[in-house]
Amino acid sequence: MSETFRQLLRALPDFPELLPGFDPAAAPADPAELFRQWLREALAAGVTQPNACSLATADGLGRPSSRMLILKDIDADGWHFATSRASRKGRELSANPQAALNFYWQQQGRQVRAAGGVIELSAAASASDWHTRPGADGSDNPDWQLYALQPREIEFWQARHDRRHVRHRYGQQSFS
Ligand SMILES: Cc1cc2nc3c(=O)[nH]c(=O)nc-3n(C[C@H](O)[C@H](O)[C@H](O)COP(=O)(O)O)c2cc1C
Repeated sequence: MSETFRQLLRALPDFPELLPGFDPAAAPADPAELFRQWLREALAAGVTQPNACSLATADGLGRPSSRMLILKDIDADGWHFATSRASRKGRELSANPQAALNFYWQQQGRQVRAAGGVIELSAAASASDWHTRPGADGSDNPDWQLYALQPREIEFWQARHDRRHVRHRYGQQSFS
């Protein structure tokens, strides 16, 4: 049984035959600009939810947890996401305001990862995010919080069929 499962996993394809090129030498100096460009290209390539990413947090003892969520914006404050302060990730961010985001766009063999400190955005911005969610019914949620991850590091990764995958890293810098 487990041998069959192992075989099934190992037989799965990884990337599509056609992969986009990526030349880091031609990449913009601002990683946010490159991210917006890659997100538009992901949509054009048929990625249905390129704004979905995993968010990894850790508790006060350094024990990690991760889950998927939706990127809401990128601006001078950082990379926005929203959740309940009462959730596990909300509690972990209170104890340890550090996190990592990871995007994976299979159709293009692309991954983007960003890690850094997390700040809480204003109550007004959080309420506005809550009220503009799909399915919002006009009720308030005082626990809803808009956060911004301020990247200390960002890496853009492009798969290649020759396995010489391209990694383009940005250190701490402007991300507006
Ligand atoms: C594609 C996708 C998008 C999601 N977006 C969000 C989101 O933006 N905010 C959120 O709080 N939970 C979102 N969720 C649910 C979370 O993954 C998670 O189950 C929930 O927030 C509880 O996580 P926690 O117990 O680790 O705090 C999303 C789930 C999926 C699969």
